Amino acid sequence: GPSLIVAPSILAADFARLADAARAVEGAADWLHVDVMDNHFVPNLTIGLPVVKSLRQATTLPFDCHLMIERPDHWATGYAEAGAYNVTFHVEAAEDPVRLAKDLRAAGSRAGLAIDRDTPVEPYLELLPHFDTLLIMTIKAGFGGQEFMPELLEKVRTARRAAGGGHLELRIEVDGGIADDTVAAAAEAGADAFVAGTAVYGADDPAEAVRRIRRIATD
Ligand code: DX5
Ligand code: ZN
Repeated sequence: GPSLIVAPSILAADFARLADAARAVEGAADWLHVDVMDNHFVPNLTIGLPVVKSLRQATTLPFDCHLMIERPDHWATGYAEAGAYNVTFHVEAAEDPVRLAKDLRAAGSRAGLAIDRDTPVEPYLELLPHFDTLLIMTIKAGFGGQEFMPELLEKVRTARRAAGGGHLELRIEVDGGIADDTVAAAAEAGADAFVAGTAVYGADDPAEAVRRIRRIATD
């Protein structure tokens, strides 16, 4: 695959025109980041499985489903079965993260583990060999448009060092406040997948915004 992943988050798009939002970044983006929130794990409600299933028919982009929900052990494999390329659930919500990673792979997707703002990464480093993606929040999960927190990149550095010992395939994804002025620091810390909502869908030309973020992350 490509050396860097840029994943626009449709959380910042017009929810009445999600198919248009997806198509607007086809050819520029690598993954489409889909934020699923249940109003319990986070105090916000977005979209769920029916919308993911419909949107799956509307675009060729691989889906990167970020589940900010309670009981991912129960719900997550449904997103894999719906055709998601990568399904990421939160370590704070999962009962048995390793078991769920195996279930996701058996259901046909890659498995991602997400770490929210207030959760340290060290206790979970030993789980990384079971995962394809580690998502480090660079804000508190729940809402788009928040300010990037550079101090959280320390977790990216820690995880990248740990992954260097034999698990080089691990994608380390950053999510929250990623834009032209923050993506370089995230890349320097060792991230190789970049979620951007506001910076992409708040721009006049979303595809060009994706290309710019990739360029800055590569330099
Ligand atoms: C927030 C979501 C993010 C959100 C990022 O909890 O997980 O994916 O879309 O939005 P921006 O890029 O605006 O910070
Ligand atoms: Zn997200």
